[in-house]
Amino acid sequence: MKDALGSVESVLVLGGGSEIAQATVDKLVAGRTKTVVLAARNPDSLADYARALESHGASKVEALKFDALDFDSHAAFVEDVFSVHGSFDLVVLAFGVLGDQAKDEQDPKSAVHVIESNFTGAASILLHVAQRLKKQGHGSIVALSTVAGERARAANYIYGSSKAGLDAFCQGLGDSLVGTGVSLMIVRPGFVTTKMTAGMDVKPMATDADSVANVIIDGLAKGREIVWAPAKLRFVFSVMRHLPRPVFRKIKA
Ligand SMILES: NC(=O)c1ccc[n+]([C@@H]2O[C@H](COP(=O)([O-])OP(=O)(O)OC[C@H]3O[C@@H](n4cnc5c(N)ncnc54)[C@H](OP(=O)(O)O)[C@@H]3O)[C@@H](O)[C@H]2O)c1
Repeated sequence: MKDALGSVESVLVLGGGSEIAQATVDKLVAGRTKTVVLAARNPDSLADYARALESHGASKVEALKFDALDFDSHAAFVEDVFSVHGSFDLVVLAFGVLGDQAKDEQDPKSAVHVIESNFTGAASILLHVAQRLKKQGHGSIVALSTVAGERARAANYIYGSSKAGLDAFCQGLGDSLVGTGVSLMIVRPGFVTTKMTAGMDVKPMATDADSVANVIIDGLAKGREIVWAPAKLRFVFSVMRHLPRPVFRKIKA
C-alpha cells in the first residue's frame, strides 16, 4: 500500500536488469520505497544490485526468474509474486529487445523474437498484472515504449512496429483501467545511452537512464498518462508524424 504521503512503498520490475528501470528504482528507494522485486531472465546476475538497494534503504529486495517469452508461465508468475508480497503500488514493464534490423530482415525468426518479446510478451504479462492490480483496487503500471513506435522508419521498423503495438495496447489498457483505482503511464524515450544502444551512433536529443528515470518519477507524481524523454520529443514527433512520406524517408537521424 502507498504510505500516508502517497509514496510508492513496493515495486515489481519486469526486466530487472534494465538500466532505465534500475535508475528509476534507485530514485524510488532514495524516496520511500521499501520492497523491490526484480524479475529477470537471470536473477542471479542481479545479486550485487539487490545488495546495493538494501544498503540504500530497501528492506525487502528479491530477484525472481521471469522470461517475457515464456507466455505459459505468466499466470503463475503473477499469482505467486502477488501472493508472497500481498500487493504492489507500482509495476514497471521495462524488458525489451532492440534486435539487429539488418540481420532480422534476413532472418524472420529473429525478427519474430523481437516482436514477441516487445509486444506479445508484454501484452501477456500486462493482462495478468492488470487483473491482479484491479483486484487489489490500486496501483500504477509504467510501460517503457519508445518514440520509435510513433512512426516506423526503414532503418528500424521491426523494433518500431513491435513497440507501436505495445504503445497502442497500453493506451487501450490504460483507458480500460479508468475508474478501477489502477493507472497506466506510457513512457516514450528517444535514444538512451544504455547497454541496449551500446556501440551505436548517438542520435540527436539523446538522453541517459538517469534523466529518463527523472521523467518517470515526475510523471508518476503528477499522475501523467504519457511522458516523453526528453519532453521536447513530443513536439518533434508530432511534426514527424505528419511529414509527407517522401520527406520522412530522407531523414536519417
Ligand atoms: N535504450 C534506449 O535507447 C531506449 C529508448 C526507448 C525505449 N527503450 C525501452 O526501454 C526499456 C528499457 O531499456 P534499457 O535501455 O534499460 O535497456 P537494457 O538495459 O538493455 O534493458 C533491457 C532489459 O530487457 C530484458 N529482457 C530482454 N528480453 C527479455 C525477456 N524475454 N524476458 C525478460 N527480460 C528480458 C534484458 O534482460 P537481460 O539482462 O537478461 O538481457 C534487459 O535487462 C526497453 O523496453 C526498451 O525498448 C530504450
